[in-house]
Amino acid sequence: MKAPVNIAVSGAAGQISYSLLFRLAAGDLLGQDQPISLHLLEIPAAIPFLKGVVMELNDCAFPLLHKVVVSDNPEVAFKQADYVFLVGATPRGPGMERSDLLTANAEIFSTQGKALNKVASRDVKVLVTGNPANTNALIALNNAPDLSPDNFSAMTMLDHNRAKNQLAEKCGVLCSDVKNVIVWGNHSAGQYPDIHHARVKGQEALSLVDEAWFVDEFIPVVQQRGAAVIQARGKSSAASAASAALDLMRNWIYGTDENDWISMAIASDGSYGIEKGLVFSYPVTIEDGKVSIVKGLPINDFSLQRLRSNEAELREERNAVRHLFGSEG
Ligand code: NAD
Ligand code: LMR
Repeated sequence: MKAPVNIAVSGAAGQISYSLLFRLAAGDLLGQDQPISLHLLEIPAAIPFLKGVVMELNDCAFPLLHKVVVSDNPEVAFKQADYVFLVGATPRGPGMERSDLLTANAEIFSTQGKALNKVASRDVKVLVTGNPANTNALIALNNAPDLSPDNFSAMTMLDHNRAKNQLAEKCGVLCSDVKNVIVWGNHSAGQYPDIHHARVKGQEALSLVDEAWFVDEFIPVVQQRGAAVIQARGKSSAASAASAALDLMRNWIYGTDENDWISMAIASDGSYGIEKGLVFSYPVTIEDGKVSIVKGLPINDFSLQRLRSNEAELREERNAVRHLFGSEG
């Protein structure tokens, strides 16, 4: 039997975690031969509720679930964590933008970045889901000077999956027939879902759909999908967010498929002219845990304008929280 791997989840009593924890314990991330310990972080007021969730986890009798640790202290929850899902943060309600959460949630990520710096595994993979995800990841990594920025990412995988699904529906094919969609930039309403490089059953996507559909339907539908789910459900997306978090982490650990890439928000290395250091969503391939931005894709004026507006938005968010960066900032 392999030694258990430590997986930490913040916001463990919340609605995303109510899907994520059970899938983790069922082996959906690391497979059926890898025991796991779940380290669950919550605010003190939510600990009684979280204890109820733990009762249910235990009642599933998952063969792979070695241990569950519950804490309101990030230094306990993140101790020797190998994989960390930073989900805990306030979600937006109807009529709000994700950036409205910036001040409410920013402090969380400076505290948690410091705790990760102190106690997490040096190879930890940290996925920030809590909104505004890109800038929260930026705060966390700036408060973890002993870890590499490469240890951190923010989630645009849900947007990537949404883009894939919209294109698949339009073309009447399965999502698995769609490759190489991209979500560039920020996990915000300004994100740029791009199909210039996408293929559907091997054919160029833009030869199968007309430009007007791409510009006037596809882009706004993907950009506004989070708001549409809130409108319909009265709460923000949860099971699809948990599923995307697993997709992202699985790709990060085991590598991307040959002939495809994923969208992942990571510290920019300056690729495509984006300011170095901003947490920006790029198309990436991953091999042996090493994330590589797909370079050299031709970018037309339409796309360039959208990449630039995402950069401007992320700069503005960064400037609003710079006071929370550690000495590294
Ligand atoms: P939720 O309100 O159901 O749960 C959030 C949980 O976080 C709560 O239980 C709360 O007590 C906890 N929490 C708050 N502060 C905390 C802290 N300092 N430490 C630990 N836990 C803390 O919300 P949810 O629906 O699960 O969504 C969580 C976050 O994920 C929100 O910010 C939401 O906007 C975001 N989200 C992001 C994506 C994405 O694609 N990136 C998708 C869906 C939701
Ligand atoms: C989403 O994209 O579903 C989440 O970011 C929740 C939201 O606020 O839209």
